Amino acid sequence: MKLAVAGKGGVGKTTLVALLAREAVARGYRVLAVDADSDANLATTLGFPQPIAPLAEERGLIADRVGPGGLIRLNPTVDDIPDRYAVERDGIRLLVLGGIRQGGGGCACSANVLLKALLHHLLAQQSEVVLVDMEAGIEHLGRGTVEAVDALLMVVEADRRALETVAKTVRLAREIGLERVVAVGNKIRSPDEEIGIREMLPEGLSLLGVLPYLEELRGTAHTGCLPDGPTPPAIHDLFDRLEGTVAPTQ
Ligand SMILES: Nc1ncnc2c1ncn2[C@@H]1O[C@H](COP(=O)(O)OP(=O)(O)OP(=O)(O)O)[C@@H](O)[C@H]1O
Ligand SMILES: [Mg+2]
Repeated sequence: MKLAVAGKGGVGKTTLVALLAREAVARGYRVLAVDADSDANLATTLGFPQPIAPLAEERGLIADRVGPGGLIRLNPTVDDIPDRYAVERDGIRLLVLGGIRQGGGGCACSANVLLKALLHHLLAQQSEVVLVDMEAGIEHLGRGTVEAVDALLMVVEADRRALETVAKTVRLAREIGLERVVAVGNKIRSPDEEIGIREMLPEGLSLLGVLPYLEELRGTAHTGCLPDGPTPPAIHDLFDRLEGTVAPTQ
């Protein structure tokens, strides 16, 4: 199961990735969580005690694989990177990519080549659950990469303006060939909010599940870390649907 998780700032992308990663481990999957947000905090959310240096800052690695700039290798070797750089806690392996910058030149370019090649490799790998915590947009996903993604999960809140951004992202996803995009409602406080989201979702985008507003998850804002308690039932349901319809196992 290969999922990219996107959505407007603060909607709960990282929280959802962390909860799904835990749930996947509980179901016996081998799990790789990928932080592709330049403002990376998935490690903290998952309870990793030490800060993890993003791969985008591994200058030696980038220079070795891609070249320092000028003449760069567009197909760098990346298959050994997960084993060398992933860190593991509670059965979840984590890779922190760091920012994949758009446009611009300089050394960011070599890093981008490496990170994009790595992301493509990770998503193309078999027999693993790969969950990618994206930035608000989906620019990291190139045309080649999307073929390997089972679905883009758009996290949404009941907020009309935020839902306009969703429509834009869904258009962009379709432009790059990512057909399967589903929405997941988050921080839902009432049945009316869920109904509101269903009514406002752009055409063709279905609501796969909803995670209610949970006081214990809000607490994440203080500690930075998901609470230990039991997985919310909504996450079990969502995972069932992911397994059942989005990425059925053979
Ligand atoms: N279901 C929920 N109930 C209550 N609080 C939640 C819920 N989901 C997320 N939060 C809280 O909302 C805040 C934002 O969540 P999170 O960091 O996961 O969002 P994000 O989309 O990854 O943000 P960013 O765009 O900054 O990366 C956090 O304080 C988190 O604890
Ligand atoms: Mg986040």
